[in-house]
Amino acid sequence: MEFVTYQVEGRIGIITINRPKALNALNSKVLEELDKTLDGVELNTVRALIITGAGEKSFVAGADISEMCALTKAEGEAFGKKGNDVFRKIETFPIPVIAAINGYALGGGCELSLSCDIRICSENAIFGQPEVGLGITPGFGGTQRLARIVGIGMAKEMIYGARSIKAEEAYRIGLVNQVYPLEELMVAAKKMAEAIAKNAPIAVRNCKKAIDDGLQVDMDQAISIEEKLFGNCFQTEDQKEGMSAFLEKRKVETFFNK
Ligand code: CAA
Repeated sequence: MEFVTYQVEGRIGIITINRPKALNALNSKVLEELDKTLDGVELNTVRALIITGAGEKSFVAGADISEMCALTKAEGEAFGKKGNDVFRKIETFPIPVIAAINGYALGGGCELSLSCDIRICSENAIFGQPEVGLGITPGFGGTQRLARIVGIGMAKEMIYGARSIKAEEAYRIGLVNQVYPLEELMVAAKKMAEAIAKNAPIAVRNCKKAIDDGLQVDMDQAISIEEKLFGNCFQTEDQKEGMSAFLEKRKVETFFNK
């Protein structure tokens, strides 16, 4: 891969967007490589993913403006679909995905982080959807996910005004869960991923599915989604082990993902 690296550390997978010359901007090749990288994640062993950007300045500075510049209407729509398909794959990825935002998260970069389950960032992070200043709308899910995460009014203010915000404000409005000094960001991301990875993996996956699927339907259906996924856990060995360990007053050594 030219622009995306993937490394596994124990039970954690780390995907790095690595195109520093363009501040990790997303061109078609980066999107294709990201897609392939996700397809290659070994779900039997990897229990949480981290997505970050290479370097100390930028997570992802957006979709590639030089690639988009001359697109036709149909090509623009196809480019939007390409990004949306990959980001939807991240959003519905079976295991939790943490965005470790190490600098600019603009346009498609902000949208990439929005497709992740959890966002944490460094103190130098800057978030924004500057698209209207370029004559376009956000195109990789920003008009949909930002409002769901920070609320309609704040999302509209940011998107209509192309207003970028710093880490501190991102924290205040709930766009990120935590802010760290840059040098501590990946340590914190790995610690968070490890805290997830040590729990019963099927239960964690079912939680992700229950939360995400439940938010798309009314409360009666949502509760029924939870009931099914809750019930599903009782056919796992990990449920037997987790509950036996509690009753026998011992710690679970490891969950087996079955
Ligand atoms: N696309 C293409 N190239 C980009 C880029 C992008 N989104 N962002 C940065 N780059 C390139 C610059 O063109 C520059 O390349 P050269 O050295 O070849 O000139 C290089 O990265 C470094 O960038 P700057 O010199 O501009 O760095 P800076 O520190 O002065 O500014 C910045 C940093 C504020 C992030 C600025 O680069 C910038 O504003 N970038 C564009 C941000 C943006 O508008 N993103 C949204 C894109 S649209 C989108 O994402 C649509 C969608 O929803 C799908």
